[in-house]
Amino acid sequence: MRKLVAGNWKMNGLSASLGELVALKDGLASAAPACDVLICPPATLIAQANWAIKGAFALGGQDCHFEAKGAFTGDLAAEMLADAGASYVIVGHSERRQYHGETSANVARKAQGAWRAGLKAIICIGESLIERQVGSANHICESQLKDSVPDGATPANTVIAYEPVWAIGTGVTPTAADIAAMHAHVRACLVAKLGEGAKAMLILYGGSVNPGNAAEILSLPEVGGALVGGASLKSEDFSKIIAAVQPVA
Ligand code: PGA
Repeated sequence: MRKLVAGNWKMNGLSASLGELVALKDGLASAAPACDVLICPPATLIAQANWAIKGAFALGGQDCHFEAKGAFTGDLAAEMLADAGASYVIVGHSERRQYHGETSANVARKAQGAWRAGLKAIICIGESLIERQVGSANHICESQLKDSVPDGATPANTVIAYEPVWAIGTGVTPTAADIAAMHAHVRACLVAKLGEGAKAMLILYGGSVNPGNAAEILSLPEVGGALVGGASLKSEDFSKIIAAVQPVA
């Protein structure tokens, strides 16, 4: 599986920001990436972005409802994201879990909604600082995986993103050894839950990935790519992270 470098713009970006996506497209045309590339802009920009980038990289949503349609004011169905040009959707980001009370059970239903619409689900997990400090990080991630990843998840329909909450937007990252250890743990949990097929499922690392630390993080065993927040907003920074992925020998 090729690695995946994914940008999560969160609640940032107006139509004027489409220029960043066009710059990214132009950069990828002059230096072919060694990985798959995805940007998840705000949903309001997906359709315009789809026109602007002409398939140069993938687009995704940042959340979806689990139903295909109905009386859910303000929500978006995975089908709507697909219709606008998305091929992925992030589900269970820690900001959704924290500010919108999303449980792992909701997240699993959203992942199934994504599959129904033909989207790949990027299912996020990760421990808080206190959970890391008291030594329960492995247990927390295991239980989030158990409850957020539906049966039927395959490398073709699902990507996992390990994002320690304390590393998101803080400029602080776990040590390389800690990232490698958690990714090995996540892999073991996925194989225990889903079987040998899960050996090929991508496990992204997310949390303060930037052009300075990307090469080390992306070279770690079991790190199948990165989910990048702040450093995905400027094409110049994001392109450097993409370029940090080494071609498979
Ligand atoms: P960050 O965000 O790169 O700004 O830390 C990552 C994320 O929340 O996906």
